[in-house]
Amino acid sequence: MLVNPVKRTYLALESWFNLSFGSEWNPLYHLGTLSFFLFWVVLISGIYLFIPFHGSLDGAHASIEYMTHQQWYAGGVMRSLHRYASDAVIVTVLLHLFKEFASGRYRGFRWFSWVTGIPTLWMVVTLGITGYWLVWDEMAQYVAVGSARLMDALPIFSGAMTRNFISGGMSDRFFILIEFLHLLGQPLLLVFMLWLHVKRLSNVNINPPRGLAAGTFVALLALSLFEPATSHAPANLARVPQEIHIDWFYLNVYPLLEIWPAQRIWMLTIGVTLLLMMMPWLLPRRDGPKAVVDLEHCNGCGICFEDCPFEAITLRARSDGARYDHEVVVDPALCGACGICAGSCPASNPFRTPRGELKTGIDMPQLPANEMRRRVRATIGSMHGELKILLIGCEHGLNVERLDGSEVRGIRLICSGMLPPTLVEFALKHGADGVMVVGCRQNDCYFRFGNRWTRMRFAGERKPILRARAERERILIHGAAEPDIDEIEHDLGEFRKRLRELRPIDAAIST
Ligand code: HEM
Repeated sequence: MLVNPVKRTYLALESWFNLSFGSEWNPLYHLGTLSFFLFWVVLISGIYLFIPFHGSLDGAHASIEYMTHQQWYAGGVMRSLHRYASDAVIVTVLLHLFKEFASGRYRGFRWFSWVTGIPTLWMVVTLGITGYWLVWDEMAQYVAVGSARLMDALPIFSGAMTRNFISGGMSDRFFILIEFLHLLGQPLLLVFMLWLHVKRLSNVNINPPRGLAAGTFVALLALSLFEPATSHAPANLARVPQEIHIDWFYLNVYPLLEIWPAQRIWMLTIGVTLLLMMMPWLLPRRDGPKAVVDLEHCNGCGICFEDCPFEAITLRARSDGARYDHEVVVDPALCGACGICAGSCPASNPFRTPRGELKTGIDMPQLPANEMRRRVRATIGSMHGELKILLIGCEHGLNVERLDGSEVRGIRLICSGMLPPTLVEFALKHGADGVMVVGCRQNDCYFRFGNRWTRMRFAGERKPILRARAERERILIHGAAEPDIDEIEHDLGEFRKRLRELRPIDAAIST
């Protein structure tokens, strides 16, 4: 299968990180939560710094110098944590952006998270800029003068800010405004944007695994102790600073002012922002047909409502006079067409209607539960080897059909999470000696929760569970992307050996 070069690069990076961190603590699987964790470090260190900080032009620099040198073991460490965690946020957010782009998780129904992500990134950058301003050293001066030139290029200011600097320098009132922005205004706006950013997602986790959080914190602490953050000389608007060590994570736009007029920098910034925001429509992707509810077979149990990764399903009072309290409703604009809901519906149990058509409470028009059952039967029937191993894959992980052979055949669902656990039991009862489910790489499901819900359902931790009567030795769950074919082939070989050692299934083939 053709994997585009951007995705291939990302998958290679992910594999490399998996070798170093293991799949549970791989930071590339937790970039959003890691960014949240870094925000916590920034917030807590920021609160500490706020206490001894002097919020005036005369006092700011001295108070920060005091913290950095006299109280290096507390204030100094906190200052360094504040700076390095802020820098790290830019790295994790840019990687998060690249990851969502590379894996195609930015278009179709996902446009909202993408489009709200871009201004959120700018909000983080401008928060960093006002932070540098507050130190009121030569770098702050460089930022202040550069920002004045940038703002003056906008029609609303038309030169007023630079004139201010030339005439009277910076006023304490203006400094207090920057303080207000950095300490309250911008953080509040950022929290609002983050809320908006994940609004269309369900079960959003904002905490990375503990080990990853602890490791990140230790790394930041070590950096803070070995390379403490320091200031430049105090700002002096009467003198042009000679040497500035700029923070390239936040201040990369300012050196451009030396070679370009401010208007051109705005055009570049606005152009890149608009281009990024329009990506979902410039490289569009059509979602498949959306999930459809069949009230005749829905008892309003709400499992699909719990399992939907995209807040597309709501539960409301029954409208058809049936004896149940609730019914589910799908919002097509939010639906990702992943089919996880069909996998969670208890009515998708293939044993329900052995001879007739299988109708379920919520189904995917492009691959209904009845068709899944038919494909399972037909695929098992088409195998002629000594063993019959059914591979069930998804559209976004490894293409399991690449492993087809006389003893192995694969079928692909939209997502591994659309597999009703009872369908595995059904396959084993209808001639398969073993079933291997291969979803996306663990912790990296294209539809967020498909592979996780499947594992939990099979482990009996989430409804609908895989029933006890399904022989566990004959079932293997794996996660894989296209480059992982060798690993899957190896595990398939081991699975084959295990199945040969088990006694044959003598279950009567019913229908
Ligand atoms: C500024 C800080 C940001 C933070 C803290 C953050 C955090 C998160 C979190 C926690 C999620 C939910 C992940 C999940 O549970 O599956 C998420 C989803 C997402 N983020 Fe961000 N994000 C940020 C910025 C961005 C940016 C700049 C972009 C790109 C423009 C972006 C694009 C997305 C997309 C497309 C999703 C949806 C993923 C999906 O539907 O599976 N985010 N983000």
